[in-house]
Amino acid sequence: MNDYAPEPQIYILDTGGQYTHLISRKVRERGVYAEVRPSETPFAELKNAKGVIISGGPRSVYELGSPTVDPALLASDIPVLGICYGQQLIAYLLNGDVRKGDKGEYGLANLNLEPNAGPLFSGVKDHEQVWMSHRDTVFAPPNGFRILASTDTCSIAAIGNDATKKYAVQFHPEVVHTHEGRKVIHNFLFDICGCGKDWEPASRIPVVEQSIRDVAGDRNIFFFVSGGVDSTVAYSLCLKALGEQRVHGAYVDTGLMREDETDFVRKIFTSLGAEHFRVVDAQMDFLSALDGVTEPERKRAIIGEKFVQIQEEILESGPYLDGQWILGQGTIYPDTIESGGTAKADLIKTHHNRVAGIQKLIDENRIVEPLTQFYKDEVRELGGELGLPAEFLERHPFPGPGLAIRCLCADKDEPCVPTADGVIAPIHSVGVQGDSRSYRPVLIVKHLDHARATEAINADQRVNRVIGEVGYNIPLDRQSVIQSSITPGRMDRLRRVDAIVRELSHASGFDKEVWQFPVVLIPLGGDGLPDSVVLRPIDSVDGMTAQSVSMPEKLLHRMRDALLAVPGIAAVYYDLTHKPPGTIEWE
Ligand code: XMP
Repeated sequence: MNDYAPEPQIYILDTGGQYTHLISRKVRERGVYAEVRPSETPFAELKNAKGVIISGGPRSVYELGSPTVDPALLASDIPVLGICYGQQLIAYLLNGDVRKGDKGEYGLANLNLEPNAGPLFSGVKDHEQVWMSHRDTVFAPPNGFRILASTDTCSIAAIGNDATKKYAVQFHPEVVHTHEGRKVIHNFLFDICGCGKDWEPASRIPVVEQSIRDVAGDRNIFFFVSGGVDSTVAYSLCLKALGEQRVHGAYVDTGLMREDETDFVRKIFTSLGAEHFRVVDAQMDFLSALDGVTEPERKRAIIGEKFVQIQEEILESGPYLDGQWILGQGTIYPDTIESGGTAKADLIKTHHNRVAGIQKLIDENRIVEPLTQFYKDEVRELGGELGLPAEFLERHPFPGPGLAIRCLCADKDEPCVPTADGVIAPIHSVGVQGDSRSYRPVLIVKHLDHARATEAINADQRVNRVIGEVGYNIPLDRQSVIQSSITPGRMDRLRRVDAIVRELSHASGFDKEVWQFPVVLIPLGGDGLPDSVVLRPIDSVDGMTAQSVSMPEKLLHRMRDALLAVPGIAAVYYDLTHKPPGTIEWE
């Protein structure tokens, strides 16, 4: 499908950093089409670009096997901007001096521009706030380069060679904390590279429709719809391109959905004029398969297997496997690229088993993916242009296995254990510690202080999460872990508390301040009230790392009161854990 995208004016070379796609999005936001490539892409494939940006990354340039770029790029007359690792790499490859610094620099810093810092900083105020994250440092720039800026701890925070149009910055212009970052990117694109504006997602709709018609030919398209933004926008583009008779879709109601979700999805598809869209009710299949299961990976495996089985049945129940049908998918741009730190290996978990029928369609190349050029924000823009309601387009990401991974289970009754810092509850939740997943109990504290929670978690290796008490019907010293699995009753309880939190955070506007807001049901209670609620509002860029964020007190109290009034709820807690060490979901 990328044959239908414009030729990129800018390539972002990925050296494994978590912000590679963010750089590319920031370039596109300025109306310039950019694509990401592996850092080692041969120069011959880059030479038609107006400019190249080398991303940040976690490695050290002087280590054997760390990501590099084709030296021909730096010898060429194409403008290059190195960011963070990108700066170090340019300096290293051109014989500058790069070493580990005495002190790392993480977080906000003050950038001091040199007099006449040149075109990259044109219009940028002196003494601007920037965001830094590095340990390695450039100690001497390469020949022909001059120092353009410094910070208190980093005497070489930007370098440039105006003659060869090679520039580099140690800070991250792509993140919001760098106040003049946009200006720096703008200067590079328009003043240094001479880019023109060629990218406006909504105006691409006719091209995308044409691409759908070309790929489909006289065949029809079938979709599995998740209710998420991507598959819905992809579906509606196909409807627009081929008409409602030729596009069919099925949505599987697993019984693990949020309150009113299935009705909501049905309404959206009705409003799109999707005539051949159906809801397949598989609630009992999923719930009975999960009955008595407590272990998270087992839950995921069962949900994955059920999905496979039901999707297979749906494909076989119609004509969809014959040559007249192809499969539509909502794959978006970042999903198409496997490189360094941007690979979604950790994000896409075990439920993504391949359905044999789907595999057959892929093997035969019977697939249409209209969104592979676009980022999520761009997909939202397309959706708006296609008439999808903002309420739908602005939804937070929601995991495929649904509320099942927010409904914690326990294989036996077990008491909590008091410690110096609080109480350890033997509810095992998933976390990431080092490179692997951990599965540990949670520490309950009486305060809602993130800094103290972080200290406590660093000090106590037994736990991977800290939650603070918000309010209770049953005091903590009378609570214990109660044996439980996923039951229709607990799912209803979780749906209710989740709906209350969603409603209140929407009404207050708090939902706009967070990237995602899981609400988790944990089997911690007493005196006939078997469950507690954990609030987990987080901020994130892409889900790979996340910060627990605090909430206005008034809203928190309103939520607490509403949640404690739900039948069966013993207490309300607040997850104070960042990722790492705690994952976003509890599982
Ligand atoms: P964790 O819990 O690993 O989650 O910090 C990171 C992000 O991924 C989402 N997530 C999933 N999304 N299928 C999905 O489509 C899944 O199986 C799945 N598991 C986690 C999670 O909601 C968060 O945004």
